[in-house]
Amino acid sequence: MTETIHITVENELGEVRLLEIPDGIDLSLMEVLKASDYDILATCGGMALCATCHIQVVEGMDVLAPRSDAELDMLDTLPDADDRSRLACQIRLKPALDGLKIRIFANN
Ligand code: FES
Repeated sequence: MTETIHITVENELGEVRLLEIPDGIDLSLMEVLKASDYDILATCGGMALCATCHIQVVEGMDVLAPRSDAELDMLDTLPDADDRSRLACQIRLKPALDGLKIRIFANN
């Protein structure tokens, strides 16, 4: 059975959009955001090395896998990161993420 994963995304202007992603596409959240036309540079290609896919989790932190040491090290380099920060490339889509709410940051 195919489930749909709903993710609410707020951009840097406060505009909110609901993404509906079919389960089973095996992508990272970063790849889904890029495919949804968000301005995510992802210059490292998802290796947790550039931090341009930084997001803030508004709701659903508890359903995400814990941050790896590599992700934490990269987030530590960001002045605007806090304990709700994640690298979107390190989040694999799965049905448990249904209902996740995130905020993305402007690339500058
Ligand atoms: Fe580079 Fe996520 S894409 S850290």
